[in-house]
Amino acid sequence: MNQPAVAEENKNNVVDVQAPAYVRHRRLIQWVQRVAALTKPDRVVWCDGTQAEYDRLCEQMVAAGTMKKLNSAKRPNSFLACSDPSDVARVEDRTFICSERPEDAGPTNNWIDPQEMRSTLDGLFDGAMRGRTMYVVPFSMGPLGSPIAHIGVELSDSPYVVTNMRIMTRMGREVFEVLGEEGEFVPCVHSVGAPLADGRKDVPWPCNDTKYIVHFPKTREIWSFGSGYGGNALLGKKCFALRIASTMGRDEGWLAEHMLILGVTSPEGRKHHVAAAFPSACGKTNFAMLIPPQDLNGWKVTTIGDDIAWIKPGKDGRLYAINPEAGYFGVAPGTSEKTNFNAMATLKENVIFTNVALTDDGDVWWEGMTDTPPAHLIDWQGRDWTPELAKETGAKAAHPNARFTAPASQCPSIDPDWENPAGVPIDAFIFGGRRSTTVPLVTEARDWKEGVYMAATMGSETTAAAAGQQGVVRRDPFAMLPFCGYNMSDYFGHWLKIGERLEALNAKAPKFFCVNWFRKGDDGKFVWPGFGENMRVLNWMVGRIEGTASGEEHAFGISPRYEDIDWGGLNFTRDQFEQVISVNDAAWRDELALHDELFTRLQQGLPDALPEAKAGMEKRLAA
Ligand code: GTP
Ligand code: SPV
Ligand code: MN
Repeated sequence: MNQPAVAEENKNNVVDVQAPAYVRHRRLIQWVQRVAALTKPDRVVWCDGTQAEYDRLCEQMVAAGTMKKLNSAKRPNSFLACSDPSDVARVEDRTFICSERPEDAGPTNNWIDPQEMRSTLDGLFDGAMRGRTMYVVPFSMGPLGSPIAHIGVELSDSPYVVTNMRIMTRMGREVFEVLGEEGEFVPCVHSVGAPLADGRKDVPWPCNDTKYIVHFPKTREIWSFGSGYGGNALLGKKCFALRIASTMGRDEGWLAEHMLILGVTSPEGRKHHVAAAFPSACGKTNFAMLIPPQDLNGWKVTTIGDDIAWIKPGKDGRLYAINPEAGYFGVAPGTSEKTNFNAMATLKENVIFTNVALTDDGDVWWEGMTDTPPAHLIDWQGRDWTPELAKETGAKAAHPNARFTAPASQCPSIDPDWENPAGVPIDAFIFGGRRSTTVPLVTEARDWKEGVYMAATMGSETTAAAAGQQGVVRRDPFAMLPFCGYNMSDYFGHWLKIGERLEALNAKAPKFFCVNWFRKGDDGKFVWPGFGENMRVLNWMVGRIEGTASGEEHAFGISPRYEDIDWGGLNFTRDQFEQVISVNDAAWRDELALHDELFTRLQQGLPDALPEAKAGMEKRLAA
């Protein structure tokens, strides 16, 4: 049984949490009692997941100034929430993996001894919910009751979290029915860390400068303190579906990945599925909802997921992926009818926007939504904003990590199989970073091991999705650097083992590709048009999967030549193609030195296959 942190003096202090009769899980009720005794909320509310409950919470947040209701004629049933300016992104340096031993968390995670962390949390959470309501939020990651789904219960003092969780997960009373009297669930405790003691007045976005996002892999628990934003607070997402789930996958032989899942269907009706890992704010939502350019008509892309994939071997030995989420928590800036038509259509109604700008007629706007910005806006911090001011000061109307929360079911490109508990069979894995130099548009790995090497050594320029410096290249293995709940070297080993099993079963193994949409020219502009035009690259990959497309072998794998890509309807010259596909020997020597740095850091338990793959590349590069 899980033993959440509970202050000593609270241990015998049984609080009546008034569990509804339909909650029959004693251990769960006792846990809610313990957390209530510790955090001391004014009241406990058991969420049922109904529209009426959602509407009530939104109304309440409007009254509290947390949210504004948008113009119903333009954006029905939608709201704008603006956070505290200090609480706008995930906080990776405040994220902890408290496994038993430091080497279980590995050098890429922050580790603190579990006992020490429990006592820290006991202190932080003691009375943390004073003056507030503690919501009990039951949720399922994956379709309710499906054999591949896992259940969590989040206790949170943030109504913003409750409403977002209702969109992002299958949330509500039915979860308790699935749980029954003793079903397994991941206990998640969340507080914004701003108690209202002694009649202290509330603020629109309560939070705390002290933040802790904590995971206990052994007991599969999550504790989050001090932030109300995104992955810090919506605990089903990064904390559960990636950090905790990755450790479950390690133990049980499956994978929890920071990947979109899409279906791609040829004009003749042949359908393939790919899962693609890109670091935060590097193009997953866009790629998942891609609309092929007109001249490639007949090709179709359908969306299964845009952020997280749970991937398991099926009975036939192939790998099957499901999307454990029910909504999109997507990056707003840069999203437009031109770049991502499907996302814009998804955002027509029933949306929570966070940290975008408000138009004078009660709608939303963000950088990149339209070519010409409105003449006047209220920016995400509630200040007047005009295009002139922006020109002068560079002030952004929307925060660069502004987000929308929208139901997946509203996406026009949603795949008919997106809720299929059996998942979809994966034909290829794609890994892509944000690199203005060095990394070619697309490279295919020659085999599973080389693919794991490519994914493991991927680098990417940091984005606004995480607090900290932006635009600096860092290694982000498998786009999982901030999300792997255990030792990264063991994680590489786990991937290699999955590959070996596919080989032993003689099962059809997915191909690996590495892509980069973000190479820049001397003018500092992206050379590759990206977005829908990425279909041309996807098209080539499908050709490689089907054995019909050619390519050219080089030191790092196989890339297309100019003539291997369908350019119909796009004026992209050989010279431009050269700028995005070329492999510069000097740049790659520097890149390989960075791979060395990573391997030195991950030395302990690093599988031999990785340095071996590297030696192969160096030999080819020298030849
Ligand atoms: P998370 O939700 O943080 O995990 O991000 P994501 O990987 O889903 O990123 P998303 O698709 O939301 O894209 C982030 C930013 O990259 C947006 O501003 C996009 O407009 C931009 N972007 C996406 N695809 C492309 C592309 O092909 N080319 C260029 N230049 N920009 C892109
Ligand atoms: C990411 O940062 O990769 C996201 C947004 O998808 S958050 O949910 O905040 O982690
Ligand atoms: Mn993400």
